[in-house]
Amino acid sequence: MEIIRCPLQMQQWSLAERRQGRTIAFVPTMGYLHEGHLSLLRAGRQRADRLVLSIFVNPTQFGAGEDFDSYPRDLDRDSTLAQPTGVDVIFSPSAPQMYPPGFATQVHLSGLTEGLCGASRAGHFDGVTTVVSKLFGIVQPQLALFGQKDFQQLAVIRQMTSDLNLPIEIVGMPIVRESDGLAMSSRNSYLTAELRQQGLSLSDALRQASAASRQGQRDAAVLLDLVHRRIGQEPAARIDYCEICQAQTLQPVSQVDAQSVLLLAVYFGTTRLIDNHLLLQPFPA
Ligand code: PAF
Repeated sequence: MEIIRCPLQMQQWSLAERRQGRTIAFVPTMGYLHEGHLSLLRAGRQRADRLVLSIFVNPTQFGAGEDFDSYPRDLDRDSTLAQPTGVDVIFSPSAPQMYPPGFATQVHLSGLTEGLCGASRAGHFDGVTTVVSKLFGIVQPQLALFGQKDFQQLAVIRQMTSDLNLPIEIVGMPIVRESDGLAMSSRNSYLTAELRQQGLSLSDALRQASAASRQGQRDAAVLLDLVHRRIGQEPAARIDYCEICQAQTLQPVSQVDAQSVLLLAVYFGTTRLIDNHLLLQPFPA
């Protein structure tokens, strides 16, 4: 496994592989890997000849007062975790390598980016679409894998890839949960034991809403009320958003069907957790 820092060197590596007729699967991350990332890497390994992991804490997708400075970074730890999955290259550039003086381009997607995380994190998705476009240009993959925990991000990247005619297959992979239901996230490392316990209310609320909808409750307002009441039991919880949306358009719905996704973002202290579930699908045990 090789670690490449320089974007040009990464691009040359990828172009050489492609000239040899080899396919490249790509998993973009901000590092501090967990089992969710490793599941993407294993899936990528099975689907292509070469596997590239990027680790870059992208400054442009963090707003003022967000956790850019404190975001966990540990390349040695990440390399040790990634190696057994069969990663060929870890691409880990610096911010000045990605955004050199004079950098002036921004990729902006309208519509899908406006609600949910886009409403509470101004500019976040411009940062994501810009860096993912750059990473796609540098890594030149045929296939890129993203987790469904960032449900809105996945929808945005699918649309961007389609709108820009990028010849890259976008693969969404299921949320990986701890045994008690907490969706895996690098940000879980911020939680004290007490806040982590309260954070379980997210998966619990999703589980309850999913069960109620599968038992026939299709009124979104009733299901949202159930979720508010469950999360409201936790003293440190502050709901950022709690919505039931159509999975492709991300527009709120009033009646639940097979395409309805319940999306949550909740602060526990200063840590913001997100989670989601397609309501009519059974919630994982
Ligand atoms: O999901 C993430 O970790 C990031 O938003 C991504 C896609 C790597 C872009 O920085």
